[in-house]
Amino acid sequence: MVGITETVLRDGHQSLIATRMRTKFMLPAAEQLDAIGYRSLEVWGGATFDVCLRFLHEDPWERLRELKRRMPRTPLQMLLRGQNLVGYRHYADDVVEKFVAEAARGGIDIFRVFDALNDPRNMATAIRAVQRSGARAQGTICYTESPVHTLPAFVELGKTLAELGADELCIKDMGGFMPPGPASQLVTALRKEVGLPIVVHTHSSSGLSTLTCLAAAEAGAAAVDAAISPFAGGTSQPPTETLVGAMREGALATGLDLNALAEIATYFRGVLDRYRPLLDLRSLQTDPAILIHQVPGGMLSNLISQLKDQEAIDRLQDVLAEIPRVRADLGYPPLVTPTSQIVGIQAVFNVLTGQRYQTITQEVRDYVRGLYGQAPAPLDPELTRRVLADAAPVTVRPADLLEPEFARALVEVRALVPAADDAEALSYALFPQVYRAYRASRDAGLTPDVLASAAVGIVGAFRDRATHRATTPTSRTATSDSGVSAWAHEGRARLQGSRRWVDAAHARARR
Ligand code: CO
Repeated sequence: MVGITETVLRDGHQSLIATRMRTKFMLPAAEQLDAIGYRSLEVWGGATFDVCLRFLHEDPWERLRELKRRMPRTPLQMLLRGQNLVGYRHYADDVVEKFVAEAARGGIDIFRVFDALNDPRNMATAIRAVQRSGARAQGTICYTESPVHTLPAFVELGKTLAELGADELCIKDMGGFMPPGPASQLVTALRKEVGLPIVVHTHSSSGLSTLTCLAAAEAGAAAVDAAISPFAGGTSQPPTETLVGAMREGALATGLDLNALAEIATYFRGVLDRYRPLLDLRSLQTDPAILIHQVPGGMLSNLISQLKDQEAIDRLQDVLAEIPRVRADLGYPPLVTPTSQIVGIQAVFNVLTGQRYQTITQEVRDYVRGLYGQAPAPLDPELTRRVLADAAPVTVRPADLLEPEFARALVEVRALVPAADDAEALSYALFPQVYRAYRASRDAGLTPDVLASAAVGIVGAFRDRATHRATTPTSRTATSDSGVSAWAHEGRARLQGSRRWVDAAHARARR
């Protein structure tokens, strides 16, 4: 029996329509989703929290409570970036503990906890907090390929996560390039050596995902992630119905009913129609080049966007060739938020300036110092020497350098909203500027319903016009609160949401 985790309410729409699905389009399907018999429903975390506040002017906590009320049977799951929670920097332990406790109270039953560097120290506090909350902790191994990411090394990480208190393990293939063979070997080895249930998360980008999920299931994975067909394929997960069909009989049967799934697919096809302007055809296409350059889909669209802004799209192949070199210099980090941005921006600088590391971004400096955690392999000695000439290395767990943050956030948020509770204080602690803007728009009567009545594409176009100039590669884009993530979902959103506007502006500039 293989379980299915349905991702349509989180990764599915994050991957295809830049995380823009509104709560009011989720709720009508909740009862049916809850009746299917999924192992779990991924509904929260990742970019959903930020996008709720920033673009949808929705309260993410309210969404969670509403979903839980309508889906009491199926365990609800979230994606948590370890010490980064759902943000882009390390938060102090007290904020991590509060956040996890509040999310569990709001309805999260399974926390998938990962760290971009696979550094267990960045996952320890979150896993401990999940344990204390009574929820299930899914310790995560970010899959990547390099001379140091060997089967024994992954198994060792699995054992460490089990010691930290993980109840199960996730193999997370965010780039969508894990082949069936290694997936099978990894599942087999982890089951044998660690003994915890194994869940496999992939993306369909390179076209391997259904094969990989099947191989993982045959090797004894407890569950695989899938998205209902309208929100599947391309940069999203493999289709739920396809996997259910493939594993219809015998030991691998999922127990899910294809007819019931068809009804859910019909509903979400209608939802996708509403978001058509946000859907870029390219994000749905199979891109086997990923098997060569291993750059995840979201990172690739950001690179294209950046290079277009620089009028340097003709250098894309050079940048794609530079990325593995920068990654090697930095000790082979897996490419996922925020390491994908750190490596990507530095590679762009190295190519466009014509001299490698003539400019070293602030993020790379912080990374080399150890502020993001322990790199998987030793760094390039010359780069290390140059960075450490100006600043001392950090050898402790990065979050040990942070003072408690929650009490101050609570005081500050209550100056804005006297009745603010812990959940609102956490929204503020994570994204102070975004929360202020969200509050101001709410106070001005811009409720989600009012905003939803505006055409999806138009809202995106105006926002992008305002922020267009701010997206040229500068350091400090990925970690500060105010200008967050021109390189993460925002960059992707800009590309997907207003492709026509970007292209038009580009054409105008060329004339
Ligand atoms: Co994913």
